[in-house]
Amino acid sequence: MIVIPGPASRELGEKVAKLTNSRIVNVNLQTFPDGESKIKLDGVVEDEDEEVVIIQSTEPPQDTHFMQLFLMVDAARDLGARNTVTVVPYLAYARQDKRFLPGEAVSIETVIKLLEASGTNRFLTVNTHEESILKKFTVPAENLSAISLLAEHFKNKGLKGALSLAPDKGALRLAQEADKVLNGGSGWLKKERDLYTGEISVEAKRFDIEGKDVVVFDDIISTGGTIAAASKIMKKQGARRVYAAGVHPLLIGEAQNKIMKSGAEGIIGTDCVSSPVSVVSVAPLIAEALSKRGV
Ligand code: R5P
Repeated sequence: MIVIPGPASRELGEKVAKLTNSRIVNVNLQTFPDGESKIKLDGVVEDEDEEVVIIQSTEPPQDTHFMQLFLMVDAARDLGARNTVTVVPYLAYARQDKRFLPGEAVSIETVIKLLEASGTNRFLTVNTHEESILKKFTVPAENLSAISLLAEHFKNKGLKGALSLAPDKGALRLAQEADKVLNGGSGWLKKERDLYTGEISVEAKRFDIEGKDVVVFDDIISTGGTIAAASKIMKKQGARRVYAAGVHPLLIGEAQNKIMKSGAEGIIGTDCVSSPVSVVSVAPLIAEALSKRGV
């Protein structure tokens, strides 16, 4: 296998290459004064049998990272790669998976078309917002889950028995998965988002958590508003310690402060995106999936 760690995922790509004993082909990135990216693959990718794995997260700046990804995949194909696997640990635009308001673009469908057009033969991502969007791919596409890795982290820190909480119903499957490791039960809060302003409101549903620990699990932590609202509710209901766990800790603006001010003890994320809290690596997860050829 050949691994190409993209500019947004160099460290993660290198870890995956090490775990899979793969040859690395580095990417030389130049950014022009006007912001355009120039991609140069520093190595040979021409091989009939070997899979060429391109790893690139699409964390902010999403559009630039996507463009770099399309350039890398297309260049790899053009330079003779016959079998490309595109790994996008954080898949941006996945939350716009339908037309919520008339006239809106279904962004993730456009992204999928572009990924396929660039020459992807197989696609892997981690905890994408809505797994069913992967059915839009015509090539094999798989959604890996980093939730048990995050839950193991908390278990090792003495949080066994903590309640695994989803800040909204969409994240309930994540909390249930975490509960298999933490064994403290799972639950969810009711969140609503104003489709025009983006503002959220979370209903203060009651839980029996007096003196108990709580870990709030979500796929994405963006502005931190969702997790902070959940954390405040848990603290108000008497939770002993509340922690925030996000697979994709984008931590936009004041997100970290907002979450810590809500009473949370800490925030833990994965290296699907690079952030100060990305302490859990998804490299073993990706390496294992890659070792199973052609999902
Ligand atoms: C949306 O439903 C996602 O699962 C996350 O809950 C959301 O992206 C978090 O956003 P924020 O941190 O801005 O509240």
